[in-house]
Amino acid sequence: MRNFISASILGADLSSLSSEIKKAEKAGVDMIHFDVMDGIFVPNISFGIPVLESVKKCTNLIFDVHLMIIDPIKFIKPFAKAGAEIITFHAESNSNISETIDLIHSHGIKAGVSVKPNTPIDTIIPLLEKLDMVLIMTVEPGFGGQGFIESTLDKISELRKIISEKHLSVDIQVDGGINGNTASLVREAGANNLVSGSYLFKAEDMSTAVNSLRAD
Ligand code: DX5
Ligand code: ZN
Repeated sequence: MRNFISASILGADLSSLSSEIKKAEKAGVDMIHFDVMDGIFVPNISFGIPVLESVKKCTNLIFDVHLMIIDPIKFIKPFAKAGAEIITFHAESNSNISETIDLIHSHGIKAGVSVKPNTPIDTIIPLLEKLDMVLIMTVEPGFGGQGFIESTLDKISELRKIISEKHLSVDIQVDGGINGNTASLVREAGANNLVSGSYLFKAEDMSTAVNSLRAD
């Protein structure tokens, strides 16, 4: 199973976004994680469609868009048109999960569903056959730089077991508090796509930090 590192630009110096993304590209990340917050689904507001359109021009890396918004189905088309290659939305949002996945796929891109730390994975299990990725939040969504919540590890192992039993190749992404120490815990539990923001962008040497997140 391939492992991926996705750099969350919420942790970057946003006044120099283009050079921060180029730095991440040089350091060897596989994708750029783009956090969208609406101030309703989460108590914070980040960036949106015009920013995605602009930053797409400065890299060929894949954009992994994480929608922390109340009604994602309304915004799938503009984010797909702006260049998202993967769109992940929350199971706790107001949109119909199955219809939103279908709409994402209708744009020829990958679909992910995310659950917050206290949300069980039950609602996602019947949809695994049509999903490319499940994002298990390892912090409460809304802010970068928070501490990893260890109780999420059981959910990751349980999900990996179910995916293997069904002989599927769904990626498990984790997001929040991922650093050189927590990376091995989530990898051992079965995650293969690691999002990291503050740890990567605040590192003295980003290449070393990226390597510390990868499996040995
Ligand atoms: C939190 C965001 C994360 C965040 C992770 O709501 O979804 O992507 O940027 O940041 P770190 O890696 O600093 O916890
Ligand atoms: Zn995120």
